[in-house]
This record gives sequence, C-alpha cells and structure tokens, in this order.
Amino acid sequence: MPPQTDLFRNPSRLPLIAPSILSADFARMGEECRRVLDQGADLLHLDVMDGHFVPNLTMGPALCASLRKALPDAFLDVHLMVTDPAMYVEPFAKAGANHLTFHIEVMEEHRVQPMIERIHDCGLTAGLAINPETPMERLLPHLTLPNLVLVMSVHPGFSGQSFIGASLDKTRSLRGTMGDTQRLQMDGGIAPTNAARVRAAGCDVLVAASAIFGKPTALRGAIIAELRDN
Ligand code: DX5
Ligand code: ZN
Repeated sequence: MPPQTDLFRNPSRLPLIAPSILSADFARMGEECRRVLDQGADLLHLDVMDGHFVPNLTMGPALCASLRKALPDAFLDVHLMVTDPAMYVEPFAKAGANHLTFHIEVMEEHRVQPMIERIHDCGLTAGLAINPETPMERLLPHLTLPNLVLVMSVHPGFSGQSFIGASLDKTRSLRGTMGDTQRLQMDGGIAPTNAARVRAAGCDVLVAASAIFGKPTALRGAIIAELRDN
C-alpha cells in the first residue's frame, strides 16, 4: 500500500471505495482494516458519533490513533457526526487522521470557512456533509474551499439502513458546480445493487459499511471491485 497523505486532492484512481469501519468487528479492528485494504479498498472511513447530533455513540481519536499506528500508510477519512466538530480538529489531527468532514447542519454560516481553514492549517483535507432532509441551498455558498462534499443517503446514526434515492438529485446538481480536484462522496445504504447509479450521479467516493464488513471476509474483495465498477 503506498503512502496516501493527499488522496482526495490527488487520487490515483476514481472512484475511491471507502469501507466504513462501523460494521467491522471492533474486537478485531486492526486485522479487519488491514485485510480490507489488501482486498482493494482505497481508504478507511471512520464514523464518529457523539450521542447528540445522532442517537448513537461510536469511536473517537483513540481508535484513530491505534489505526494510524497499526496501518501507517492507510488514508483515514473521519466523518464527524457531532454537535461541536470544532472541539475535535486538533485531537484527530494529532491522532493521525488524513481528512475531516463536518456537517453543515451544526455550523453557523460565518463559522464554515474558518473551520475549513483550521482543518487545512492542521495539514488535513476538509469535507462538508449534508443530511438527506437539509436543502442544498445551505451548501451552495461554501463550495469553494472544501476538498470533498459528502451527501448522506441515509439519516446518519447507524449502518445497515435503506438507501434514500432522492439523494442522487443532490449529487447530480452538485457535480456541475464542483471542481475536478474536489471529491463528491456518498454515504449510506450503498451496495453493489445501486453503486452504478451512485457513480452515474457524479459520486467519486463511495462509502459502504454493511455491504462490505457485513459480508464474510472472503467475499469482500469481490464486493469492493463491484462497487468500483459493475
Ligand atoms: C451513517 C454513517 C455511514 C454508515 C454507512 O451514519 O455515516 O458511514 O456507516 O453504513 P451502511 O453502508 O451500512 O449504510
Ligand atoms: Zn459516514
């Protein structure tokens, strides 16, 4: 695995397949992650939940630091589903994250740009996420700086939910307004059965938890290949 410090700005291939470790076996996390990267995954997606922004608790900087230690070359994409993402920029930078995405729903307008700049100043790429029920207009004034826009295709909080097809309308219109070096990520309910629609709607980073880690280890390489190109 090559070092991938700037994967979202300079991807070696597209689309990128991002297994979310939320559906991995937490007791065997290092092994699960190493294996899925060996099987063709491009990066690891870490779903951080604080029990306030979403009704679930998951993981924090300590797990990120352990993964960084176990997998020095892995690209770690942290998805902050928390009420106060500003609290966690430096802790995750210190823990070895490569990328931080925060939600537009928790940010006052005037704090969006400084938050992205603060993430950049820590040497990470930055992403802005939007929930299914949030109008696109919230994002539109902020599309210049982020390296990635994450369009949620489930209501955040849990893996294993059904894909919300209307989210594809958002990515279709976003793609036209974003630059070639900006990534468009979709997250939630993605499986080989709908991956072609997701890619056709302009998404170039596909997150999947249950479709990958919910399946037996031996099948995961084929599933990753199907998500990329089926
Ligand atoms: C949802 C998380 C997703 C989730 C995806 O709140 O942000 O990353 O783990 O799970 P699946 O792929 O099972 O829908
Ligand atoms: Zn996520």
